[in-house]
Formats: sequence, C-alpha cells, structure tokens
Amino acid sequence: MNTTSIPSPMTQRMLEKKSRFLIPCVYHFYKTPMVLIRGEGAWLFDDAGRRYLDGYSGVGVVNCGHCHPQIVAATQRQLHTLQHTTTIYLTEPMLNLAEALSRFVPGGSLCRSFFCTSGSEANEGALLLAKLATGRTSFIALSRALHGRTWLTTGVTGLPFWRTDPEPPQNIHFAPSPVCRSCPFGLSHPECNLRCTDAIEEILERHPGTVAAFIAEPVHGNGGIIVPPDGYFARVRNLLDRHGALLILDEAQTGFCRTGRRFAFEHSGVVPDILTLCKALGNGLPIAAFMTTDAIAATYTRPGASTFGGNLVTAEAALATLALMEHHRLEERAAQTGEHLRSLLLGLQQRFPIIAQVRGRGMMLGAELVHEDGTPAATVLDVILERMKDHGVLAGKTGPDRNVLTLMPPLILDEAQIEHLALALDLAFMEGCRPGQGGS
Ligand SMILES: Cc1ncc(COP(=O)(O)O)c(C=O)c1O
Repeated sequence: MNTTSIPSPMTQRMLEKKSRFLIPCVYHFYKTPMVLIRGEGAWLFDDAGRRYLDGYSGVGVVNCGHCHPQIVAATQRQLHTLQHTTTIYLTEPMLNLAEALSRFVPGGSLCRSFFCTSGSEANEGALLLAKLATGRTSFIALSRALHGRTWLTTGVTGLPFWRTDPEPPQNIHFAPSPVCRSCPFGLSHPECNLRCTDAIEEILERHPGTVAAFIAEPVHGNGGIIVPPDGYFARVRNLLDRHGALLILDEAQTGFCRTGRRFAFEHSGVVPDILTLCKALGNGLPIAAFMTTDAIAATYTRPGASTFGGNLVTAEAALATLALMEHHRLEERAAQTGEHLRSLLLGLQQRFPIIAQVRGRGMMLGAELVHEDGTPAATVLDVILERMKDHGVLAGKTGPDRNVLTLMPPLILDEAQIEHLALALDLAFMEGCRPGQGGS
C-alpha cells in the first residue's frame, strides 16, 4: 500500500504555492494529494517514488500511454527543426495531419479540418460554423452536457457544476439527457419510444427556422458516463434533417479508440455534420480540431486563424498518435480490455450493493454509487477514490452529483496492470464501505 496519508514536503510546498499563485477555481482531487513527476505507459510516479496506475488518463487524453517513445521522438524531431510559424505560412505537418484525419475518421464525408488548441475552442468553432452554414442563430444542447469553458461553450454546457457564468448566452435550448436509469419521463426503453427525443422535436417546432445545430457528446463524460439508448442518434438525426438543423458531435472524451471504435459515433451509425476532437488527438500535447464536410466547410471563407492551431510540434505528435492507433488497432484492444474491466466492476457490484449501475462503452466506464435510500453516495466515492490512490490506482469521478466512479485508463493496459487495478478496487471498496467510513 502507498502510504500517502501524510503529505510529502514537496506536496506541502506545492499546496502552499497553489494557494498563493493560482486562481482558486483550479481544484485538485484528493484530501492528501501527491505531486506527480513522471509517467511511463500506464504508470505515473510521484515525488516520493510511489507509482500509480493511471485509471483516468488525464481525463481521456493519454490513450497511447504516458511519454510513448514514438510520440516523444516525433515531437523532439520537430522541436529541434522548426517549432512555430502559425497558419499564415505553409507547413507540412498540419496538412499531413488534415489528410491523415480525413482517412482516420470513418465515413469519408468528414474531410476538412480546422486546427486549434483545446476542446472548448474546437466546440466554439463548430458552433460558429453551424451558424455560418445554416444562417441560423440558436442551439439545442443536453441537460448533462459539458462542452467547455468559453462563454458559448459553457452556455451549451447543461451540468450546473460547470455553468459558472451568471449571465450565460440566451440562444440555447436544453433537452433532457437520455438517462435511462433515472428517465426524466419515468419510462423504460424501448417501450418509451425514445420519449426524450420528443423534447428535441418540440424545441424545433416551437422555434421554426432558428436552430442551427444540436450539440452532444456521443457518451456523456462529465455527465456521469451516460450511453444513450439504441436508436437515439438515428431519431435525432432524422428530426434535425427534417428541420434543417445540423448535428455536432463532441468526441473530446469518446474519440480516438476510447469506446472500442475509433469514434463513438460509429456505434450509432450516425455520422455528424461537424465532429469536434481534442484530448487524445495529441496524446498529451495541446491540439484540437473540428472537422466537417466539403459543403459545410465551403460556408466558412472569412478569415479564421488560430496562432497555435496546427502547430508543427503538436501536429507531429498527433500524426505519431494516429499511426500508433492504426498500427496497434487500439480500438479493438480497447473493446476487449473494456469488457474485462466491465466484468470486474460487475463482479464488484455483486458484493457491494452501493454500486447501483455499471455502464459505459469500451474503456470509458462508470459505476454509480447510491445509498439504500436512493441518495447519491458522493462522500463514499471520495473515500473510495482516496483509498484507491493509497493502493496505487488513480480513478475519476463524474455525474451531476459527483457519485460516479469513472475509469478511463490508457488503452494499452496489460494483464498485470488490470490485476493491480482489480485489487485496488477491491480493497478500496472494502475499506470505503465499512461502517463508520461513510458507506451504506
Ligand atoms: C466532452 C468535452 N468537451 C469539451 C471539453 C473542453 O475541453 P478543453 O478543456 O480542452 O477546453 C471537455 C473537457 O473536459 C469535455 O469533456
């Protein structure tokens, strides 16, 4: 067991610096946090030499593992050659990446890219593009969505936890997220006939000719790992087509093999009009993009530039990332390992009834913790996460009530690492659910 209950001198120094120099909106996990100083594959190491299996990948970023030698080498080569020019000059890596992405993304229609540096910026750009392409001004988003931190992207973020701006934009309509476990209409799938999509239709009918696009994550990440029911996106697509609105899918967390397919939209068979990408695209280097079709791209001709968008170094890192994913068929590996992880969580659920539901796709998994009286068990989850960390595994928490244990490890986990994860989960649940520890 890692004995991290006493903060190291370095932790104490970093906490002191953080409290003095950062804006206090920047929170960290854990009562007794560690200072991470090195990463290798699926492992992270702290200042005291303790190692942790990374069960969260920096929120679905390091899909190929930390400091992958081929990505590091490609990055270093470019850093030593030419680091920055911006898009007013022609450079090869950005254009090679645009070409590679047009092949990497299934379906063939999404063949044009705009590069930027963060998911917020990619979504902001996608929303602008939808306005340009349709000549319309409003959007539909989901009640459990998270799409970023800029004004418009917090505007389309439904989760109250992340809606900080007291005066959010007004041109956004929210529809209920398709959360079957606690269906807002008290129905169950498939008898419900996808009642939750009727709410989208009602908005489209109430505001004829004004909705530019519907934006959604194919699987809610921060919203608590919510997989929409079968048929959901097909019906939404049909409604949007009938009303002349576009479909934007935000694959920040679900993209790049995470869910057992290269992109989560493949599970539904519905190709979006605009696809937004970030996080795992650069496997830890800051690069993001939105992609669209020839026809929609043709509507965005006024100048659009991003100083660091398509930066040579991050574009080379992304090219190396795509090559690795293709070579190792990481989507297949994620599907297999994901099934293994899911069965571990389901096994745990048999023994710990505090786990109300296990859900997710591939290696994007959630276990929702609920007390016997139906209230969210967020405090128990905090204890469990702290214990997991002490047993050498980092995991995440999501959901509007912060009670969904979330696993999104690098996609390259091996058998021994899965065993390590299983043991830590087991011990943490035994300790976290003991009477007196806040468990039910
Ligand atoms: C689904 C989704 N979209 C967008 C974002 C925002 O990305 P960024 O933090 O790179 O701006 C996030 C961040 O977690 C996300 O999960």
